[in-house]
Amino acid sequence: MSTTPAARVYRPTPRNLAYLAKVLASGGLVAAPTETVYGLAADALNPKACRAIFRAKGRPANDPLIVHVDSLEQAGEVAVLNEAARQIARAFWPGPLTLVLPKQPGVPALVSSGLPSVAVRMPAHPLFRELIRRSGCPLAAPSANMFGYVSPTTAAHVRDGLGRRIGHILDGGAASIGVESTILDLRDPKHPALLRPGAVSREELEYVLGRKVAAYKRKVAAHTAAVAPGMLERHYSPRTPLTLVRKLTAPHVRRARPDEAFLFIQKPTATKTSDCITKTANNVFWLCDARGGLAQAAHHLFDQLRSLDSGAWTRLHAELAPGQDALALAINDRLQRAAAKR
Ligand code: TXA
Ligand code: MG
Repeated sequence: MSTTPAARVYRPTPRNLAYLAKVLASGGLVAAPTETVYGLAADALNPKACRAIFRAKGRPANDPLIVHVDSLEQAGEVAVLNEAARQIARAFWPGPLTLVLPKQPGVPALVSSGLPSVAVRMPAHPLFRELIRRSGCPLAAPSANMFGYVSPTTAAHVRDGLGRRIGHILDGGAASIGVESTILDLRDPKHPALLRPGAVSREELEYVLGRKVAAYKRKVAAHTAAVAPGMLERHYSPRTPLTLVRKLTAPHVRRARPDEAFLFIQKPTATKTSDCITKTANNVFWLCDARGGLAQAAHHLFDQLRSLDSGAWTRLHAELAPGQDALALAINDRLQRAAAKR
């Protein structure tokens, strides 16, 4: 699969959008931005096009795809919408939330890895929506990275990973959220469960549903990979070994070798110890500045991991995001999976 010439990167002009929509409608692949991460899109109802997604990413066939739609009506053509799904869709779509629901028969088995369910999401990104509208197709799209590697949040990330394996990349700038959508299992509306943490919190979902949503459990997801495919514990992984601690401190940095890098969630503030960290160390990095919050940290997470991974560091040390809010759980899930042993 090294036959495709280097990918072309397209600016989002009306002409380019019209062209890329045609590529999609005729069974081609296009990488395009959503507000969470970049996706590698194809016509979800065309099995050949979807097979090409798996091939380009080196993705195993037991890891099902998310189908992106532009309207509730289109969602209903892909998935069987129960009342809970309609309620949730009204509250959170378009947005960073994916629903797992019973599949409609028209969706190829390949898309859902043979499962009777399908994952469906209405993204908020205007360019991705435009591609769905203009192509007239629901678009199957996993994150546009080689399987197992860090997800892409810019067109340059997509080109770095897939540039010789796909032909078309739409450049819509950096993805605003930066971590993948929350996934909610609503196959049985009486027993909703969180399958992946993202920007939409479990509490918000519970509020709208008026009932408990089973919490996400990373280890369980990994152990039941055969039942809930794609939930491999090791994922999002830089090539450089990554170690996690709950909280990084000045002594961690002082004790390390100079070829080890440290990733703080927030820029260390000018207290005595941490001041000396940022002033003297060129191996200290952070995801948000002293006034920035977790939204900024999530936005930078994958870009920072990729950039550290392309440096000459022999080991990366990262700390977990504090607290229990949706983005803290999402960031920590991605970090923990990135650090999981092979
Ligand atoms: O934000 C996002 O969700 C991005 C953008 C592009 O939409 N997409 C994304 O796709 O993260 P991907 O392929 O990297 O992750 C999709 C995951 C699968 O790995 C699997 O865990 C879950 O969605 N999934 C898909 N279909 C499922 C199903 N029928 N049952 C359970 N889980 C499913
Ligand atoms: Mg992915």
